[in-house]
Parts: sequence; structure tokens; C-alpha cells
Amino acid sequence: MPNVKWTEEQQNAITKKGSNILVAAAAGSGKTAVLVERIIRKIIDDKIDIDRILVVTFTNAAASEMRERILDAIYKKIEENPEDENLQRQVILLNKASISTIDSFCLDIIKNNFYEIDISANSRIADETEMLLLKQDVIEDIFEEKYIENNKDFLTLIDTYTRYNRDEELRDLILKIHKYMQSNPFPEDWLNKKIELLNTENKEEYKNFSNTPWGQIIIEKIEKTLENAILKLENMRIKMKRFPELDKYITIYQSDIVKYKNLKEKLNNWDELEEILLNLDFKPSWSADKKITNELKDEAYLLREKVKNDIKDIKELVCVNSEEANSNIMEMYHILNKLKELVIEFSKRFQEKKREKNIMDFNDMEHIALKILVSKNENGEIVPTEVAKRYSEKFEEIAIDEYQDSNLVQETILTSISRGNNVFMVGDVKQSIYKFRQARP
Ligand SMILES: Nc1ncnc2c1ncn2[C@@H]1O[C@H](COP(=O)(O)OP(=O)(O)OP(=O)(O)O)[C@@H](O)[C@H]1O
Ligand SMILES: [Mg+2]
Repeated sequence: MPNVKWTEEQQNAITKKGSNILVAAAAGSGKTAVLVERIIRKIIDDKIDIDRILVVTFTNAAASEMRERILDAIYKKIEENPEDENLQRQVILLNKASISTIDSFCLDIIKNNFYEIDISANSRIADETEMLLLKQDVIEDIFEEKYIENNKDFLTLIDTYTRYNRDEELRDLILKIHKYMQSNPFPEDWLNKKIELLNTENKEEYKNFSNTPWGQIIIEKIEKTLENAILKLENMRIKMKRFPELDKYITIYQSDIVKYKNLKEKLNNWDELEEILLNLDFKPSWSADKKITNELKDEAYLLREKVKNDIKDIKELVCVNSEEANSNIMEMYHILNKLKELVIEFSKRFQEKKREKNIMDFNDMEHIALKILVSKNENGEIVPTEVAKRYSEKFEEIAIDEYQDSNLVQETILTSISRGNNVFMVGDVKQSIYKFRQARP
């Protein structure tokens, strides 16, 4: 767009060099336009060949449009400088430029490097329905085997997760976890790590349940409830103070306030908190004095009842002591470990089936590409492979449109082929439509 007058911020985003750049701006504010202009400037001013820039778009349509827009811009420049050989060369290079969706880019990586991993060159992409049927076949086989061998762990899971002997719920759970974990670069590691969080054994600080992540969540909620309760009671107490005939109710209010303030003091000591809540009463009780006709009396009564209910809810949240709470979590930990084994078994067998049939889906493509591009070293750190290094030498710049919709796998793929200072991303958190696919806006 040679005739556009760019804003100062846009200008900045178009020309800044030497670091990764993330442009976050609202819908229609010109993010894609800036990305395109930046690429054109790279070609024209920095003499970078178009096939040395990786442009990742969100849809195939967006990729074609991007190609169009770049071509238009190059032609306009050629009109101005008909003799410019560099520009003419770009038109040809554009044909093999990497302007595509992340999925097509992954497919490219696989096609060009399939010999690096154990994948057949004639693999094809299967549609969702075919994959779903295959998944169901695999899970069917596993369940049947487990039933026949009366597998104890399996039966524990059936017991825990299903009702009325309908095992669909467990099947769905396995499929759901399996799907969810795919958005992670290393799904099994991720699953292990998440489940290990529930291993409370030998965690000295967990002996006070307030210090556990779950305790923290509960405590935070209780704190809010208590603060709210105290505030409301205080306000009402101040209102009542104007009427001496309400003195006895003020006393009740004061007593409540002291109690709740005391509770608030104990939030960081789970067992004391539990003890106090266990013995908490709502005395003194309210006396319905007919002689007092002040309307505020009824209002105060109703407010106190409401607050009492909120406090009763708290009591339900803190109904076991630290030891019991931790042992419940440990019990869950053991069950989740069994569930994990089952998910991993499913994952392995599903993978085998796909290999037998030479099929993959988009998700597999990302994971296969990832496998080609990164490995874990002995310290468990993610390191780029030789193939990734070749890509990173090739691409002077990596430009990503609609960045808000990328997940951790895609992010890891693109990071592995970047030089650490040459990624240009544009996006808008508000437009994220792929949270359900574990995009991380
Ligand atoms: N500085 C500018 N002056 C005039 N028009 C502009 C300017 N910047 C962008 N535009 C125009 O605004 C329109 C929207 O731009 P663009 O598609 O790049 O926005 P976007 O931020 O990518 O939108 P989305 O959030 O929908 O992806 C385009 O027609 C573009 O040419
Ligand atoms: Mg855009």
C-alpha cells in the first residue's frame, strides 16, 4: 500500500529491527497491512529474497491474499524501476516462498525431511470422521481386553468415573484428555507433570493444607466472603447506631463481626480454621422484640441471615482437616496415575494404528514436524535439531499473523526455527477464537 500514511506506531512496527516484535492491536487497526508492508520493505530496502521470509497466516485464503498483496506491491515497484533485476527475480521466487498456514508449513517440513523420522512418504491426511472411528476402535479393543482380564486398575477407574455400569464416561474422559494434551509439545511429559502435582507425600509444607494449591484457592474464596460479610455487617451496625432502641441488635452484630474477623486471622492455618468453623455457632440469637417497630430491625435481621448462609457455605468448604484433605488428594493421585496409564496406552495404540494405515491428522502433522525440529537434551531442555538449524539459517524473518490463535506446539515449532530475534507477530487477544483448541492468547 504505497499511498497509505502510516501512523507513528505502524511505522515503528514496520521498520524496527533486531528483536522479536509482538504487535497487539484491535480488530481492523491495520495489523496485517503492517505485516505485509514490513515484508515488502525487507525485500526492497534490505534486499532479502522473499523465499527467505516465512509468513504464517491463519487460513489458506489469507495466505493466497498475502501472496497477492506482496505480488501487487512488487509489480508497483517494478513499474517505477523497470530495470530492477532484483525485483523481477522476486516475482519468480514468490512461487516457492513460504507463505502458508502453520499446517501447510508443517506438511512441508515433513515432506522434505520424512527420512529423519519413522514416517512413510505416502502418508495421507485423514479426515476427522475417519480419525474418530479409529479412536473408537482402539478404545473398544482396550476396554474389551481389560474387561476380559479383569484388570484391577481398570475396574477401579470404571468404579470411579462411571455410573450405572455405563463405561462411556470413562471412554469420553480418555479421549478428552488425549485430545487436550496434544496441544502440548510433549504431551506425555505434560501429563506426568500435571498428575505429579497431586503427589502430596513428603511435601512438608502441605501439612498445613492452606499452603497447598487447592487450599490456596479455597482460602482466597473464603477471604473474599469474609471481607464482604464484615463490610456489610459494619455498614448496618453504623446505620443502627442512630437508634438507641436497637442497642441489643448492635451487640449481636458486634459479636458476629468479632467472630468473622477472628476467622480471617486464621486463614493461613488450615487446622485452626477448621476447628473454629466446626464449633462456630451464631449466638447470641436474634430476639424478635415486638415492641421495637423500627424498620431497620427487620432489615438487619435479614442481612444477618444472609451473611449466616454465606458463612455456612464456608463451613462446607473446610470440612476436613489437613491430614484428611491430603490423604484424599493422595487417593486421587493414585487413581489419576491409573487413568494416566490408560490414556498413554490408548495414545500408543492409536499411534500404531495410524502408522499401520499411513494416516495422520493436522494435529499429528504438528507433532511430527516438532519431532523433526526439536529434541530434548539430557537436562530435559528443548533443543533445536540440525534440521531446525538449517531452517533458521534460511529464514531471515518469521512473520506470524493472527498470533493469538497459536498454541504451545505451534509456538515451539516456530521458536525452534527462529534466531531468537527475528520473529514478527501480530494479533489481538480479543479475537481469539481457538481457546477451545488450547490456543494461548
Ligand atoms: N495507516 C492507515 N491508513 C489508512 N488505511 C489503513 C492504515 N492502516 C491500515 N489501513 C487499512 O485498514 C484496513 C484494515 O487493515 P488490516 O486488515 O490490516 O487490519 P487488521 O488489524 O489486520 O484486522 P484484523 O484484526 O481483522 O485482522 C485495511 O483496508 C488497511 O488497508
Ligand atoms: Mg489481520
